[in-house]
This record gives sequence, C-alpha cells and structure tokens, in this order.
Amino acid sequence: MFETLTAPQPDKIIQLMQMFRDDPRADKVDLGVGVYRTSDGKTPVMKAVKAAEELIWQTQDSKGYVALAGDAGYLATMKRLIFAEAVAQDRLAAAATPGGTGAVRQVLEMVKRLTPEATIWISAPTWPNHPAIIGYLGLAMREYRYVDAETGGLDRAGMMADLAQVKRGDLVLLHACCHNPTGVDLTLEDWRAIGDLCLETGAIPFVDMAYLGFGEGIDEDAAGTRLLAGMVPEMLLAGSCSKNFGLYRDRAGIAVALCGNAGAAQATGGMLAWLNRQNFAFPPDHGTRVVQTILGDAGLTGLWRDELREMRVRMQENRAALAAELQRVTGSDGYAFLNTQCGMFSLLGATPDEVDRLRGEHGVYLVFDSRMNVAGLTEETIPLVAKAVAEVMG
Ligand code: LMR
Repeated sequence: MFETLTAPQPDKIIQLMQMFRDDPRADKVDLGVGVYRTSDGKTPVMKAVKAAEELIWQTQDSKGYVALAGDAGYLATMKRLIFAEAVAQDRLAAAATPGGTGAVRQVLEMVKRLTPEATIWISAPTWPNHPAIIGYLGLAMREYRYVDAETGGLDRAGMMADLAQVKRGDLVLLHACCHNPTGVDLTLEDWRAIGDLCLETGAIPFVDMAYLGFGEGIDEDAAGTRLLAGMVPEMLLAGSCSKNFGLYRDRAGIAVALCGNAGAAQATGGMLAWLNRQNFAFPPDHGTRVVQTILGDAGLTGLWRDELREMRVRMQENRAALAAELQRVTGSDGYAFLNTQCGMFSLLGATPDEVDRLRGEHGVYLVFDSRMNVAGLTEETIPLVAKAVAEVMG
C-alpha cells in the first residue's frame, strides 16, 4: 500500500517554516509564517492566558468529554465577541473546531453535503490553505480579483465585476480583516455592496476571521462582518483564537452559521456537531476554555484587550518604521503602501526570483509570493531588511 507513495508537498508556508529551521545562519530573519513575535523575537504566552490557565488548573475537576459542538459557554461568548448585537443570537449555530483551519474545513464539509454544486469564490490572492481545502473536498472554485497592482489598494471594480457572476448558493469567501496575504481590507461600503450582491443573487458570504483585533481594534475589525450579518439571511464564518489569544498550538476555533431563523439554527447546530463527530469526535477543549475564562471575567478581558492592543500597535509601528527606512534607502515612495495596509501581512511585490535572493543572499525569509509578516521585524532587523530589499529590488 505504501510502496509507491510519494508524500504530498506541504504548502509553501509550511515548507518555508522548515527551510528557516534548517538555515544555520545566526542573522536570518523570519518574516514567513503568520505568528506574532515580540521585539525580542519571542511568541510568548499572553498574561491573560496564563492567568486563565491558572484558574482552570485550580478549579477544573474533570477531563471528561464535554460536547460534540464544544462547550456551550465558549460558543456563546465567541458569538457575542464576533457578532455583538448585529443579529439575534438564536439565529447563530456554532461548533468549536480545531483552530480556524478546522472551522474552514467543517464549514466546507457542510456545504459539500448541503449544496455540493456550489462554487466557492476566493480572492486572488488568498491564504493558500483556502484553495487547498476546497480542492481536497472536490468543491468547485473560482477566483475574484482583489488587489489593484498599480495602487496596491483594492481592485474594487474588478472584484465586483467578477462577483457579479456568482450564482444562487455559491459561497463568497471574504477575509473579515487583515486580509492574508495582502493587508488590503474592505471598507464598510464594500461590505455593504457585497451584502447587496448576495441579497440580489442568493450567494452566501463565508467570512474567515483569523485576525480579529490585529487591524484597528476588535469592534473596528468586526464591523464589516457585523454589517453583512445584519443584511443577509444566511452567512457562514470560520473564526480563530490562534492569533489574537496567542493560542496557536491549542487549536481553538469556531465554525458559525447564521441561519434564517432559530429553528434552522438548531438543525444546523446539530449538523455541525455531527460533522465534528465524523471527523474527530470532540473538539479540543483547553484553548476554548481559556478563551471563555478570559471573556467571562472583566479583569482578564481588560488585560487581554490591553495585550492585544500592544501587539497591534507594535505591528503598526513596524509597518511605519520599515516604510520610512525603505523610503530613506531607496529614495522612493514605492513602499508607502506598507503604512496604509493593515494587520500582520503585506505583499512586498518581489518576484519569485527576488524572494529567493532575499532568502539566499540575505537570510530574509518571505513567503514565496513575497508576503511579509510585519510582526517578525524588530528595531535591529528593520535596517537590515530594508537594505536587503533595496539591494535586491531597487
Ligand atoms: C499563515 O498564513 O502564515 C498562518 O495562518 C499559518 C498557517 O497555518 O498557514
């Protein structure tokens, strides 16, 4: 059975993680995988998380199974965090999943069972695991234009022209905030226009919310999602606590379906729980318990929000500092977009060959499409990265 097997290639982000680990150079700079780093290059456990874990350690008296959909308290707190008052909570079906990727997978599994003929519309570009999972499940997929190569901003006209071709039941996959990989986000007017389009065509929005709080703030980052949820009868969402709670390895995610009414939500919740059962039975509990402990305690919530703000500000400062340094060393405004885009990522605009040279000659690791994780920059590395970029890209 295994004799003729060739292992599937991991996607490019995972390949790059391995290449970075294998690189013996001491001055290498990791701007690849989307993991937050402090100014000394660490990905620490957040203080609010440590405090919640301590509370859990003191009070948890069982590791028995919870529920196929995960803990009801976690689901309720997350629904409030994401949607606030935008929709009646009883229209929201939800299940905990192993991370945001697990949520993307479970949502698409459900779509495959309910509307296997649906086409999933993804932005060009998008996170590589989107097309990978869609392809793996054998669902149809089409791309819509997203970035204007000239301005580095949104290609609004291209996006809306492409999305005008959606059919009833198709899914429009949107990034809630901090678009991965471009850092180019939709304005509220864009969200409204997409809502109108979905109302006209019967297409269903599918929001991937992996970076809530990394852009402008929790409410600001959720504003588009909430606006859309208030407009459309049905919507899907994959949420992640990996980045904003720093719970990467604990795999805390949530799959949500906004349904037309409470009855439909009840049935959909049952479907999500059943799908969990088929794939892994019970979702991981620890990370979700940490999240609900934090969000259920005003003091811990305050601490968490402060820490989240600190991370966000650091990423914004890194953007500004790199844009300024690049302006200084190249003498051009060609990198000013770094300062207007938001969240963890931007595309630097390097060709694949330039990305190779940045890595090979300068130890600067970008994803192959030239995506840069701005959280990986530090005061010390910004001048080095800028010099390398100027040398390689001009
Ligand atoms: C990323 O885009 O780098 C992160 O979301 C990590 C991952 O799983 O790809």
